[in-house]
This record gives sequence, structure tokens and C-alpha cells, in this order.
Amino acid sequence: MSEKATLEINGKKYEFPLVRGTENEVAIDIKTLRSSTGGVITIDPGYKNTGSCESAITFLDGEKGILRYRGYSIEDLADKADFLEVAYLLIFGDLPTQEQLDKFHSDIKENSVVDDDVKKILDAFPKSAHPMGVLSSLTAALTAFNPSSVDVSSEQDMYNSIVRIMGKFPVLVSWAMRKKHGLPLEYGDDNLGYVENVLRMMFKNPNREYEQNPILINALDKLLILHADHEQNCSTSTVRITGSSHAGLFVSLASGISALWGPLHGGANQAVLEMLEAIKEDGGDTKKYMAKAKDKNDPFRLMGFGHRVYKNFDPRARIIKKAADEVLGDLGVEDPILDIAKGLEKEALEDPYFVDRKLYPNVDFYSGIIYRAMGIPVEMFTVMFALGRLPGWIAQWREMRLRKEPIGRPRQLYIGETYRPFKAIAQR
Ligand code: CMC
Repeated sequence: MSEKATLEINGKKYEFPLVRGTENEVAIDIKTLRSSTGGVITIDPGYKNTGSCESAITFLDGEKGILRYRGYSIEDLADKADFLEVAYLLIFGDLPTQEQLDKFHSDIKENSVVDDDVKKILDAFPKSAHPMGVLSSLTAALTAFNPSSVDVSSEQDMYNSIVRIMGKFPVLVSWAMRKKHGLPLEYGDDNLGYVENVLRMMFKNPNREYEQNPILINALDKLLILHADHEQNCSTSTVRITGSSHAGLFVSLASGISALWGPLHGGANQAVLEMLEAIKEDGGDTKKYMAKAKDKNDPFRLMGFGHRVYKNFDPRARIIKKAADEVLGDLGVEDPILDIAKGLEKEALEDPYFVDRKLYPNVDFYSGIIYRAMGIPVEMFTVMFALGRLPGWIAQWREMRLRKEPIGRPRQLYIGETYRPFKAIAQR
């Protein structure tokens, strides 16, 4: 027998079907709520209880601290796969065979040249521009250089636009950084792996060959995998809702990049490092900052702590904390802010304010420390997050279009003035 939920409004009962996901998550299907009740809607600011879609890409259980892409655990993927394999997995649903992976990579390389005229747009930005703003603008601008719209009924057409953006995006990432640092713009080297190529494009010194460092390649691979998807977060929902109007892939991604920029989302990795630096400059008094974070009259929040979904621990944070120790050790870097971070974490995990609210370190708490040890400038941290999240956004956009989802258009509860007769300016 099908499962049902009953809702009673002012004495009248309405039934709605319950739907279950493959992991036994339960949802009330309220598609007919408004039509059957004569206009009643639900209200849920921040969508804390609202499922916006059915998705087969990423599963996460915030209570148990589980994160899986297409059924594979994040721990296994971070340990055993590389970023391009994970990108393929997320977008197309299965881990690639060697042949599929080689073809995917070769098609990406084939599409990795960015029109030289994009440099003119980049030139118009002041050096002071934040690279997230630059990246979002250039990603949207790519539409103008590749104007044909994607025919989503053709898998080939969709594939072509996917390899195009997977190829060009790392070039834009490197250009956003190099422009800020006054370095000549680089194109990639087709002999290199995807992640190796990113590092070379970012860091190649004009006067010498770039020497690859396997520690950096492994660290970046892992970080990008950990950031690759996270179901219906703010930026992903933005990509899906923009794409739901049938706007193109590149502009949908550009809107996702803008959403990611905020300090409550991807921008937290930059904010964490700035916070740890400020604590260090202030004499390393973590207790003072803990008190600020708990003070409701102080807007300060402990950046890198808390998560909308994880209420036990963020499995990505565990992997990253271990990786931070390893990478700093391998590179021989001693960073006092790693000790400050560990001290803050320890205090927070023992503090009733954080314990009661189930606030744990999230993915961004330790990632900036690794990025800094790798020589990545702080303003590029969120850009690196975007680079990692790219395949997740693409996968979610593709799924949304293939499932022919309707345009995203929430309702509201109007709380403004009721009808007022117009008042001429002299009478106001
Ligand atoms: N420091 C101090 N108090 C906090 C924090 C924090 N970092 N996070 C949440 N709280 C408190 C909050 O004040 C509230 O307290 P009360 O119940 O007394 O009003 C309670 O905990 C619940 O917080 P919320 O803001 O209602 O929870 P949310 O699910 O809306 O927000 C969050 C989740 C991630 C936006 C929030 O925890 C936060 O602002 N964290 C800091 C920013 C951060 O690290 N963001 C990265 C998130 S992970 C990566 C990503 O998503 O990109």
C-alpha cells in the first residue's frame, strides 16, 4: 500500500503521497497542495525543510557524516581516484573505463583554448578586482565566444559543451590569478594531466620551466575531489534554478560562481584564513574569539564552523585535517596558524555553545591552510573551490535538463501593504 501523509487545515483533511529515496529518506509530495487546498502554500525560509528536486548524484547523511558521489564514499574517492575520474563519475553516473577517461581527457584538451579576445575583457578589470568576480564574468562572457545554444535533446551536443567548459575553465582560473599578480597569461600543456596542467598554468614563471611537485598534485587532486559536489547547496541550487529557465550552461555556471563567493558558502575558506591570521596578529588569544562567536550582539562567527546539513561531523573536514598535517609535513612548512586552528577546534568541540548547536569544523576550516602551504594566494581560495565544484554544477545542470524539470519559481507569503489609493506627490 502506498504511504500517505494527512494534513488537516481548519477541520478539512487532505492526503499527500509519501515518496522514499533509495537511502530511505522520506518526503511528502506536495505538488498538488496549492490546487487542492485553494491556494495554501508552505513557507520555509532558507529551504531548511524543502526538497527542490529528486537527484541521483550525491547522497549525504548529515547525522551520520556520510557523503557519497553516485554511491561511492568520499573517503574511497579521495584516496583512490583522481579528479578527472570523479568529474566523469559525477557527470555521467559511473566511474569511467580507461578508454572513456582517455577520451574525456583528450576531448577536454581539444577544447581548452580560450579565444584570445577574452584577454581584452580581462584587461578591463582593475588589478584590485577579486578573482571570483573576474571568474564569474569571464565564464559568462564565454557564451559570447561560443554562442550556439546547447540542444539538450542531443547527448552529443551536451557532451560538447561539457568538455568545452571543463577545458576552458582552468585557463580562466589561472588567468584570474596571473592578471592580479601581473604575470603573463599562460595556456596549458596537453602533455600534462588535468590537475598538473592547472598548477603549471597558475605558477609557471616566464623565465623557466615549471617543475612539477607530486605532493602539490596529490594535495590539489584531493582538495578538488572533496569539493566536487555537495547536493543542493546554495551555489548548486543557483545553477539549477538559473538553468531551469533554459539559460545556457556557461551563464548558469557563472551564477553559481557568484553564489559560491559569499562568506557563508565557498567564501568561508578565505574568511577562515583571514580570521586565523587576525587571531595570530592579536596574540593568539583563541578564548577571546570564542567569546565573540558566542556573543549574540557581536556579528562575528567562527568561520569554518557549522553546516546546514552536517550535525555530527563533516567527513570532508576529517580528510582535510589529516591532509593538512601530511602536506605541511611533506613540504616542510611550519605554519603557526595550523596550531591556532587546532586549538580553536579543540575548544569549540568542548564548548556547550558549539556542542548544543552541533557546530563542527566544515570543509573550509583546514582547506585554506593547505592552499597557503601550496603557495596559492588567499584571494584564490574560493576560486579553487569553484574549480573543484565545476563537475558537480555541470552534473546537476545536466540532470535537471535531462529530467525536464520545470522552471524554478517559488511562491511567497505577501506581508506588505494592502491596497492603497495613489497619493499625488503634493499630498505625500
Ligand atoms: N559561529 C558561531 N555561531 C554559529 C556558527 C558559527 N560559525 N554557525 C552557526 N552558529 C549558531 C547560530 O548563531 C545559531 O544560533 P542560535 O540557534 O542561538 O540562533 C545556530 O548556530 C544555528 O545556526 P544557523 O545560522 O541557523 O544555521 P544555518 O544552517 O542557517 O547556517 C552556516 C549554516 C554554514 C551558514 C553557518 O553555520 C555559518 O555561518 N558558518 C560559518 C560560515 C562557514 O563556515 N561556511 C562554510 C559552510 S561549508 C562549505 C560551503 O557550504 O561552502
